[in-house]
Amino acid sequence: MKSVLLIIGGGIAAYKALELIRLLKGKGIGVKTIMSKAAEEFVTPLSVASLSGEKVHQALFNLTDELEMGHIELSRAADLLVVAPATADLLAKMASGLANDLASTALLATDKPVLVAPAMNVRMWHHPATQRNIAQLQADGIRFVGPNAGEMACGEFGLGRMAEPSEIVAAIEAQLAPGQKPLAGKHVLITAGPTREPIDPVRYISNHSSGKQGYAIAEAAIALGAQVTLVSGPVSLPIPPGVGLMPVTTAQDMLKAVEGALPADIAIFTAAVADWRVAAVAGEKIKKQADGSAPSLSFAENPDILRTIATRKSGRPKLVVGFAAETEKVIAHAQAKLARKGCDIIVANDVSAGKGVFGGDSNTVHVVSASGVEDWPPLSKAEVARRLMEKLAGML
Ligand code: CTP
Repeated sequence: MKSVLLIIGGGIAAYKALELIRLLKGKGIGVKTIMSKAAEEFVTPLSVASLSGEKVHQALFNLTDELEMGHIELSRAADLLVVAPATADLLAKMASGLANDLASTALLATDKPVLVAPAMNVRMWHHPATQRNIAQLQADGIRFVGPNAGEMACGEFGLGRMAEPSEIVAAIEAQLAPGQKPLAGKHVLITAGPTREPIDPVRYISNHSSGKQGYAIAEAAIALGAQVTLVSGPVSLPIPPGVGLMPVTTAQDMLKAVEGALPADIAIFTAAVADWRVAAVAGEKIKKQADGSAPSLSFAENPDILRTIATRKSGRPKLVVGFAAETEKVIAHAQAKLARKGCDIIVANDVSAGKGVFGGDSNTVHVVSASGVEDWPPLSKAEVARRLMEKLAGML
């Protein structure tokens, strides 16, 4: 029987851990639990023990526990460690290797894979410290499920809600039964969505990218067993379960996030990055002029993220894939782009008016590489994603 060690952190989402235990037991997966001190403020050890059918491990220095099963053994007896909810505090401890309670000690002592389901206030999630910790944990091979966007217990709205128990179970099952998945143990880094370049505190320049193709690729990569980091500009799409999401706004943020997420085996750049940003962002809202004159903006070129990564001297992902949105001479422009950007594949699509690619659900692409051009038939974005990931898995 497969088993997980569930570490319940101290957040309001701890109540969902009870449902998670129930679902896991229903699937025949054994659940041992550790509760942090703070978790006991939200759910009782008695509820957790009743549902899991096992004693709850609470204290690091507990003589009886240590005699029955030491904390090192506890951390290695399960097939997978799951942290749900993973609070900002627990993630920070994990990222810096602290071990000052039973939960953090087990996480440091384990030799098993670790899956975390973050849950916190939206501002805590977006705080640079948390984002730094997440990037570190992803680099360490920790897998993420969620968080989702939505209304929070604190009344705010945004990213930070813990993934639903059913999503966490799906991520756990994918981990426990990797089967013959061709991308198991591989890290796939994907950029998606538009970037937003501010003009002043209330205005920005952006584009129509929906992010759908990139998100579909993230899902396809997960299905093949990859560890996926999705660096995404602002979109309104649900986070694919099991994906490590790094939300960003500007092109410069996106480059920083991508560099922070390396190393990767495969990097796929689907984002519609704004080629320019406003050179001097106004600190205050730009007001209308009495004489009716329009403001003039000057622009600075944004970094080319794809080119920066594809031409890295060290730590270049083994496969670098770019997307090219073209309105004419699709293949010729894609071939030129392949050479100019130094990538291995360009997936070119025709986004001229009437093709319905932007925001739509289907795509007709041409896969351009040094070995030639493959013209794929019109496919759903999900099918393009599946075929692309299977092709890349075969090339790796
Ligand atoms: N790209 C990127 N960073 C940029 C611009 C583009 O990473 N600053 C990536 C896109 O994610 C995509 C590929 O480069 O994978 C092609 O982008 P595109 O905008 O079509 O290419 P450009 O170099 O901007 O060429 P042009 O605008 O002349 O077509």
